[in-house]
Amino acid sequence: MAITIPIHQAGAGSRARVVTPAGAALTSLPPLSVYVHVPWCVRKCPYCDFNSHAVPAELPERAYLDALRADLEQALPSVWGRQVISVFIGGGTPSLLSAAGLDELLAMLRACLNLLPDAEITMEANPGTAEAGRFRDYAASGVNRLSLGIQSFDDAQLAKLGRIHDAAQARAAIDMAQRAVARVNLDLMFALPGQDMDGCLDDLRQALSHGTEHLSLYHLTLEPNTVFAKYPPQLPDDDASAAMQDAIETRLEEAGLHRYEVSAYARTGARCRHNLNYWEFGDYLGLGPGAHGKLSFHDRIVREARLRNPESWMARAQARDGSHIAETRTVGADELPFEFMLNALRLKDGVPAASFSERTGLSLAAIAPALQAASARGLLDPDPTRLRATALGWRFLNDLQEMFL
Ligand SMILES: C[S@@+](CC[C@H](N)C(=O)[O-])C[C@H]1O[C@@H](n2cnc3c(N)ncnc32)[C@H](O)[C@@H]1O
Ligand code: SF4
Repeated sequence: MAITIPIHQAGAGSRARVVTPAGAALTSLPPLSVYVHVPWCVRKCPYCDFNSHAVPAELPERAYLDALRADLEQALPSVWGRQVISVFIGGGTPSLLSAAGLDELLAMLRACLNLLPDAEITMEANPGTAEAGRFRDYAASGVNRLSLGIQSFDDAQLAKLGRIHDAAQARAAIDMAQRAVARVNLDLMFALPGQDMDGCLDDLRQALSHGTEHLSLYHLTLEPNTVFAKYPPQLPDDDASAAMQDAIETRLEEAGLHRYEVSAYARTGARCRHNLNYWEFGDYLGLGPGAHGKLSFHDRIVREARLRNPESWMARAQARDGSHIAETRTVGADELPFEFMLNALRLKDGVPAASFSERTGLSLAAIAPALQAASARGLLDPDPTRLRATALGWRFLNDLQEMFL
């Protein structure tokens, strides 16, 4: 499907107001982020349903960067004149890219986009592909935050998870990352096969021993079409994993890392600006195979998705006829409340109530009945100036979010 070229272009801050049948009437555009997807990994982990593929004999870095340039250049009319607050290079395993390749990628973004001088630039890295020299080179190119997929510090668990690294490599990668950049996130998973509370807390203890400023703690889920879905491992039951979740929050709070989103914990001032922009219903341009984007215009909000298959995306992006875009869709006014609340309620502090209208172009009155019902059930904070789940609402987040469908 061909990309839709916006008719009403405008830079952030313009105050024109246009109402369309889709219902959106935005008086300003939200902050803009950029996501770049690198789709290859050394090998596929058995639990993972990300758009990631075992790397071919040789990483097609040249073809990938050429396709990325083509993808970016075709997207430019949709974001013309707008400032970019953050970049996230995710995967897959972006740390498979050479230092020169990553440098070219960031130079390309800087040349084509209005990247703010203090933009947060995060790159995901797998400890099995970590090298001190390359991390330093990534930092010299502009990466100022590294996100490491640690998962666990237990060698037996790492083997069960099919990881390409052991705990010693994970610790070494953290050390290299912390020497290279000021900001490091560690991804850990819990409720792992055969894991008990002691194992979960030991992983936390080891993560905290590195003094990290940000942790992402994911409950291991069995995703469809993964090896684990076909051959399910023995996992802790719901009560045991709920107890782990509670213990994680308590232990991290004691250590000064505050839970600010369902899976994210940070020291004061260390929250991930890129992910916050997603949850606050900001805009993001998604580049690369399978990348999703959300872009606002004065009169509508558009979601788009790139072709998932890396080879197809590379070939179609290079064709420069828009056929690398699998889907472009204007979000209907009836869908916006759910989409907004789905994101905003993941944040422990919620969002200012006024941002609902700013970001969706709809009046808060559009969700007044659902707000009242959720508040009456004790799921939503009655404070009229914020949209924020109560402790109960957060525990039953799916039920609360569905009230805005
Ligand atoms: C794209 S990966 C991160 C970087 C890199 N690919 C790696 O694994 O080292 C994002 C994170 O999602 C989490 N994740 C992936 N699959 C998951 C699953 N089925 N359940 C819970 N968390 C998962 C892992 O913690 C992983 O580090
Ligand atoms: S390395 Fe990361 S993205 Fe790649 S398969 Fe494993 S979890 Fe998925």
